Order: sequence, then structure tokens, then C-alpha cells
Amino acid sequence: MAKYTIVTMPGDGIGRVVMKEALRVLDAAGFDASYVEGDIGWDFWCREGNPLPLRTIELLQQHKTGLFGAITSKPKEEAAAELSPDLKGKGYVYSSPIVGLRQIFDLDICIRPCHTYRGNPLNFIRRGATGEVEEPVVDVVIFRQNTEGLYCGVEWGRLEGIVYDAMLTHKSFVRNFGNVPPEEIAVSTRIFSRKATERILRSAFEHASKNGYKSVTLCEKPNVIRETSGMMYNMAKIMQKEYPSIELWNTNIDAQMMWLTKNPEDYGVIVAGNMFGDIVSDGFAGLIGGLGFACSANLGKDIAVFEPTHGSAPKYADYPVPIVNPIAMIESACMMLEHLHEKGMAEKIRSAIAAVISEGKVRTYDMLKMKGSPDVVKKGAASTAQMGDAIIEKVMSNE
Ligand code: NAI
Ligand code: MG
Repeated sequence: MAKYTIVTMPGDGIGRVVMKEALRVLDAAGFDASYVEGDIGWDFWCREGNPLPLRTIELLQQHKTGLFGAITSKPKEEAAAELSPDLKGKGYVYSSPIVGLRQIFDLDICIRPCHTYRGNPLNFIRRGATGEVEEPVVDVVIFRQNTEGLYCGVEWGRLEGIVYDAMLTHKSFVRNFGNVPPEEIAVSTRIFSRKATERILRSAFEHASKNGYKSVTLCEKPNVIRETSGMMYNMAKIMQKEYPSIELWNTNIDAQMMWLTKNPEDYGVIVAGNMFGDIVSDGFAGLIGGLGFACSANLGKDIAVFEPTHGSAPKYADYPVPIVNPIAMIESACMMLEHLHEKGMAEKIRSAIAAVISEGKVRTYDMLKMKGSPDVVKKGAASTAQMGDAIIEKVMSNE
């Protein structure tokens, strides 16, 4: 029997393409696992009215570790139009299955590392004081609260009844919206609990302390969003006292998006609520190569799901020879290995990726700054499988 059972959820579009490469690389690295595939994504929405079937939830409950590719999501109305005819008009409402997974299993800690690979032609460069080109090394790990805040789904498309009455008890509401008819007001709430805020802050400080980072940056907006960002900042200040060797920096999300291209090398661990964590992690991902390189972990108390942050890129899904970069997915698999305490294997795969990138012989279309099209391989770009092969070759030769 294999040592581990992993629930693979390739999902839609290029999710399936990159998953295949990640599994090949894991095999090559000697990862002793059997895989069970969980159904998730658009086909299951269309056929069953549920993009996250109960059987998939049960598989994860049983096996605890998931590797997720990507899914296709569409706005409510478009989703309803694509339901199979026998399901239409029966009250099915589409909601994103990856957001669902995070909420069902309380995967409240999202970790998104952004590390520069030497020799990646997509690395951020800037001009130095005397005109020289500088290529700062980014080594940032973003801790994003994954279940609360603006993405928790407590929303109203129009205000009515006791919700409206409750709003009227707030003087800022009366001042700003007192004259607006309630049916013309949409509300999305930003709710933070102390418990989840404590967990994400703790994870960030622990990671910084165990991995030698000198700072934790809280990236919120406490000067304006006083009750949620403000609470998080106050909690961070208290927690920092337990970690005297780590500085707490406080930056506002808007300013941080400007600073990340000025001095990205100054940052270490970043911690933020759900939406700001989402934003700042995409910002940093842009400095290290973009979506082809951005990996993530979603961790709960006993279940964990690992995924690239990119989506299903439907326009590239059906190319006869797939062209997308599998590195984000393979890096996500490395995060899974670390979670399972297989650090040596994760390191072996990361060194292989680093070697392929620094050699520069095998580069997918994004790394060559080409526009994606079926003929990029003819023009010299590596296909998805060729990138997988190159990494596997390095993994094997390091043995
Ligand atoms: P996307 O991430 O799928 O693709 C955007 C663009 O990024 C692509 O057209 C491609 O140019 C590039 N790209 C993405 N992954 C790449 C890779 N591995 N290698 C090279 N280039 C890559 O985002 P988009 O187009 O906004 O969304 C497409 C679908 O994916 C939508 O239905 C969206 O809802 C869904 N989505 C799903 C996510 C998930 O499953 N976690 C996350 C983001 C979007
Ligand atoms: Mg995002």
C-alpha cells in the first residue's frame, strides 16, 4: 500500500493539463502515493447542478490532502443558462467550488510564496540610481486569511427588513445613505473574527520565526477600516511581543502595491485579510513570473488543499499540444510535500526547477514573452509536457 493517498481535483481547462505534469514529477521524485480523483468544476455544475459534489467532499474528509488544478467559474446568470435542461428553473445557484472547499473545511490559512528563480526572464527589473539595471531577489511569503472578510458571502443585493433597520442604527450609514432608497443599496460585509485573525497572524509569525525572516508586514488599512483592519493591527502588535527578533511593519494595501515595485527585496512575511491578501499576492506574483509561477496552500486544522493561483485559462485548454507553464502547479505539489514532511523531495523538485530555469534551454511561451497560440511550440517555446520532461530529467539526475 502506498504511504499517502492524495485526492486530485484537476477540475477544468488547463487545470487538467498542469495536474498531469505535477503527478509525473511527483512520481519521478519518488513520492509514494496513490491518487483518487475528485470530481469538481464546470461539467458537474452543468450536469448535476453542483460543481462540488458531496462525493468529492467525502473523499477529502477521508484522505485529508488534496491537489487542485483549476476550475471555470462564471457569473450567476451565465451559469444558470448552461445548466442541463432538466435542471433549469429548479433553484440551483452557482457558487465557486474552490471558495466552497475553503469554507466547508475551514481552510482558513492561505500561504502564497513568491520566490525569484535566478535566470527567469520574467523576473522584475528596475533601474538603479546610476541607470544600471537591477534585478532584486524577491523572497516573500504571503499569509492570506482565507475564509472571512469580503469574500465570506454575507451580502445583500438590496436592503430590506431588519437588515435595513439595523443599518439605520449606524450614524455613518444614515449620513452617507440615509437618503438612498433601500432597494437601491447593495451591501457586501467585511467580517473578521478574533479567532481566525489570531490564527493567520500566528501562522505568519511562526513561519517568519522558523525560517529566519526578519519582519512580518501587516498589509491592511487600519487608518480607514478601523474595526477590522484596526483589530488585526492591534492583535499583531500584541503578538509581536512574543517574537522579539521579528519586526512588525504596518503598510496600507494601496501603498504596498506601489512599494512592491520599488523595494520588493525588503519584504519577508506578509499577512493580510482575505481580499487584501488576494491582491497583494497577485502583485508579488507579478514580480517573479506571474501566473505560471504562483503557487499556494490552503490549510485547515486537519485538511489541506494545494493549488496554483491561476484559473482554467479556457482559451488554452483544448490545444492539441498544451502550451501552458506547469511550474505553478508543480510548486504547489512541492508545498504539499512539505506539508507531509517530505521536505527532501520538495527540495529536490525545486532544485530541478531552478536548474531548468537557469539553464534557459527549455522555456514555455510565457517565459519567452510570446502571445499564447497553438504555434508557439513551432516558434521555439517548450510545450507543457516538454517543461515537465525537463524538470523530471533534472530530478532524476540529482539522485
Ligand atoms: P486564468 O488564470 O485562467 O488565465 C489568465 C491568463 O493568464 C491566461 O489567459 C494566460 O495568458 C495566463 N495563464 C494562466 N495560467 C497560466 C499558466 N499556467 N501558464 C502560462 N500562462 C498562464 O484567469 P482568467 O482568464 O481570468 O479566468 C479563466 C477561468 O478561470 C474563469 O472561469 C475564472 O473564473 C477561473 N478562475 C479559476 C481560479 C481557480 O480555479 N482557482 C482562479 C482564477 C480564475
Ligand atoms: Mg486571486
